[in-house]
Amino acid sequence: LPDGKTPRTVTLTRESDSVEIYVFGATVTSWKVAGQEMLFVSPKAVLDGSKAIRGGIPVVFPIFGTDPVIKLPQHGVARTSVWKFGGVTSETSSAVTGVFQLSSESIDPALAAIWPHKFKLTYSVTLGKDSLQTKLDVENVDTAEWSFEALLHNYIAVDDPSRIKIYGLKDASFFDKSHAIPPSQHDYIELNHEIDRVHTVADRSVPIVVETMRSPKGVVRVEREGRGFDSLVLWNPWATKSENIVDLGRDAWSHFICVEPGAVDKSKVTVKPRETWTAKQTIRAA
Ligand code: BG6
Repeated sequence: LPDGKTPRTVTLTRESDSVEIYVFGATVTSWKVAGQEMLFVSPKAVLDGSKAIRGGIPVVFPIFGTDPVIKLPQHGVARTSVWKFGGVTSETSSAVTGVFQLSSESIDPALAAIWPHKFKLTYSVTLGKDSLQTKLDVENVDTAEWSFEALLHNYIAVDDPSRIKIYGLKDASFFDKSHAIPPSQHDYIELNHEIDRVHTVADRSVPIVVETMRSPKGVVRVEREGRGFDSLVLWNPWATKSENIVDLGRDAWSHFICVEPGAVDKSKVTVKPRETWTAKQTIRAA
């Protein structure tokens, strides 16, 4: 951080669309389509680099949640490390890409001691027409193979989570960390309670479609491309659990649903020396 305190941000724009990324965590904190904010960031989010940012798109790596063996903080090291902005790598009239990098040498040495594997992460953020694409490359620059989990923790803005519908998970198996909602009888999921569900997606080509009931853009599609993102987590803590989340507070739970493509749990990935694993999501607003 330049002055030791305030994280810097990068903003990419295309006509009336924009995306803002903090170098802290390479966290996307805003995506606007024709002026409409499509992502949620908590009014109580801590933005000074002392805590992971509550909202936007935190990058989860190399563990998801907590791990019984690897004693890293919840969701790993990427979302609380300062990434390097590698510049704008591509720019056309319809799309612009900014690239962020994080290597094992630049994470907190105390965390590197807990998870002592050498890696290079490259995170490419592309703003397109009504779309935001984020791509994560995980490169093993070590001499031995290692395994990791990765996930893009999208906080999609909604007005009322009990009115939304989530399509695309009909055939996915899942386990529910909260055990709160029974399996849906429909081809969509509706919420009336907290949800914390890790799906294993059979068919990656099926997009997750959220009818957010907002306007003018009321549909958000999360597409996964290439190999890689075989997991899809849905999370909303609802009123009761939110009270314990200090940077969310009492009311903010009703303004988002987390739709998180990842490679976690059974979909954990192993990379060999010099191998790069790539996974990509495109979020579209309609
Ligand atoms: C979700 C997890 O992805 O992230 C939840 O499935 C977790 O279990 C949530 O509570 C938020 O995590 P955090 O560390 O940002 O509070």
